[in-house]
Amino acid sequence: MGAEPAPPVSRDGALLDMRDVEVAYGAGVLALQGVSLHVRPGEIVALIGANGAGKTTLLKTIAGLVAPRSGEIRFAGRPIGDLEAPDRVRLGVALVPEGRRLFSRLTVAENLTLGTFTNAEAAHRREMLDRVYTLFPVLRERARQRAGTLSGGEGQMLAIARALMSRPRFLMLDEPSLGIMPRLVDAILEALARLHRAEGLAMFLVEQNVPAALELATRGYVLQTGRVVLEGTSRDLLGSELVRKAYLGM
Ligand SMILES: Nc1ncnc2c1ncn2[C@@H]1O[C@H](COP(=O)(O)OP(=O)(O)OP(=O)(O)O)[C@@H](O)[C@H]1O
Ligand SMILES: [Mg+2]
Repeated sequence: MGAEPAPPVSRDGALLDMRDVEVAYGAGVLALQGVSLHVRPGEIVALIGANGAGKTTLLKTIAGLVAPRSGEIRFAGRPIGDLEAPDRVRLGVALVPEGRRLFSRLTVAENLTLGTFTNAEAAHRREMLDRVYTLFPVLRERARQRAGTLSGGEGQMLAIARALMSRPRFLMLDEPSLGIMPRLVDAILEALARLHRAEGLAMFLVEQNVPAALELATRGYVLQTGRVVLEGTSRDLLGSELVRKAYLGM
């Protein structure tokens, strides 16, 4: 392959800091091998990789849905590897899962309310609802509609909004544009950019649309068969031969 991974940049003050993480499914598949990466407060970082590279596994490991075999994960300086997923949500870690995972028979508003389980106070819930309805006005219009009847793009907006209801400090998004028409992809990425401008929310974005991901993010990592093979600023990645050949078809 040639190119050695660049030395990691300083991790001082990282919000998320992952070191030497290894994940195996059963005895056979090594899904992640020696993965070290970090996200600083207020940063948007992209994670790029082909199908099966381990992107979803990586996000699930951070969320506490998959247990690593070895390695360390810190959030805001504190080791979180032993915490259950709900406790990580309470600390501010939120995941918008691949495929959205909405409760299709519940309404938009009910799906959102379920996102607040970490703090169920009514006043707080209303404030959070207001926030996400401001970010995605179409969800306010469809508050009483069943989630299963939303379009793909609306469903993705709902999945993001639901994750925001837990008031995260760190938002992970697993392929938010998958299966959505381009116009709505732009609307979703624009909403994420607005959210970032307004609140400086740190994000970790898995996205097949590499140019869009690297436009939104300031830095990124490239994952290949469970290993980080390249990292750098978005500009560096867009200029790299690996990214141009494998992900931009140039
Ligand atoms: N529950 C599981 N049991 C066994 N193997 C799994 C499981 N989940 C994922 N894998 C394997 O781990 C590897 C990484 O999968 P993962 O879903 O993390 O990749 P991905 O980069 O998210 O791919 P995609 O772009 O298709 O979503 C793949 O080889 C996959 O087959
Ligand atoms: Mg995936």
